[in-house]
Amino acid sequence: MSKTIAVIPGDGIGPEIMTATLRVLDALDCSLSYDFVDAGMAALEKHGELLPQATLDKIAEHKVALKGPLTTPIGEGFTSINVTLRRHFDLYANVRPAVSFPGTKSRYENIDIITVRENTEGAYLSEGQTLSEDGETAISMIRNTRTGSTRIVRYAFELAVKKGRKKITAVHKANILKTSSGLFLNVAREIAKEYPRIEFNEMIVDNTCMQLVMNPQQFDVIVTTNLFGDILSDLCAGLVGGLGLAPGDNIGTTAAIFEAVHGSAPDIAGKGIANPCALLLAAADMLDHLDMVAKGDRLRQAIRDTMTSDRASVTPDLGGKGSTSSFADAIVKRLAA
Ligand code: NAI
Ligand code: MG
Repeated sequence: MSKTIAVIPGDGIGPEIMTATLRVLDALDCSLSYDFVDAGMAALEKHGELLPQATLDKIAEHKVALKGPLTTPIGEGFTSINVTLRRHFDLYANVRPAVSFPGTKSRYENIDIITVRENTEGAYLSEGQTLSEDGETAISMIRNTRTGSTRIVRYAFELAVKKGRKKITAVHKANILKTSSGLFLNVAREIAKEYPRIEFNEMIVDNTCMQLVMNPQQFDVIVTTNLFGDILSDLCAGLVGGLGLAPGDNIGTTAAIFEAVHGSAPDIAGKGIANPCALLLAAADMLDHLDMVAKGDRLRQAIRDTMTSDRASVTPDLGGKGSTSSFADAIVKRLAA
């Protein structure tokens, strides 16, 4: 049975890594059809707006989208399209796996951490941000809800069960942010009791940063609020060799959008040297989501094998001399073998 997904090629390096990713997906034989839609600068040029209604409609129709990075123009009152998409589809869970791959410049081996970040509330509110008239006092609001905390913590535990993970760390700052972080922590403690087979521990966010750098192998699944999750997941990406290997899955109850954590990389756009792996790993997560877990695993293994045995084909960010297309070709060849 064929499944159609919405595909947003995106801006900058987006079209280059998307072409590579779709070529690899085709080689995996997943019976996927692609419905191409625009967002970002590409949409602004073609349709006069950053996020056309037709794009929202297609994502709603297909329920799954694979998305290239989007450039948000600075100033001129533009809000981030990524934040808008997350809000529009209530994509409350931002799942960011950080896994060690061979042949990176990473300081560590054997890291396998999934950060589950709340994606809709916390400090990421458009309201409640004020600056006094004299410019002296700035106030930002944090809002966490019991409902929002419950669904993200439950998502993390269910993910841990599904993936056979052993331990969840709830990261918070409840000692200082007594109400907002306190509510999140209390909810986490309550839900943890429902999952006695999964080890639960809690850690204050500043200590977590230190522990991640000193002894990252102690972590398995991290669940946390929006801002802490944003920061910690980039830290985790740094532990495994950088942004070229970091996928980000945005999951809601009616739709899911899979993307790379990195942006449109204007400094290397058009040069054909962007690493396609972050988007490829997001595509592998998308296959898991579509109940094609074996295909997702095959794709991850092919990337791993290519990075081990075909160093000449990999992109410069991983120390290779290859290009986006030579990297994709090598992965396709592995899949065919
Ligand atoms: P960036 O992630 O685009 O680039 C940061 C650095 O990492 C650059 O040196 C770039 O060359 C390198 N890099 C990124 N992806 C790479 C890849 N696949 N292979 C090799 N090197 C790679 O971040 P920056 O420059 O801060 O943002 C550029 C634009 O992207 C901005 O307009 C920003 O708003 C947008 N952005 C979009 C995101 C999204 O759509 N999810 C996420 C982050 C930024
Ligand atoms: Mg971020």
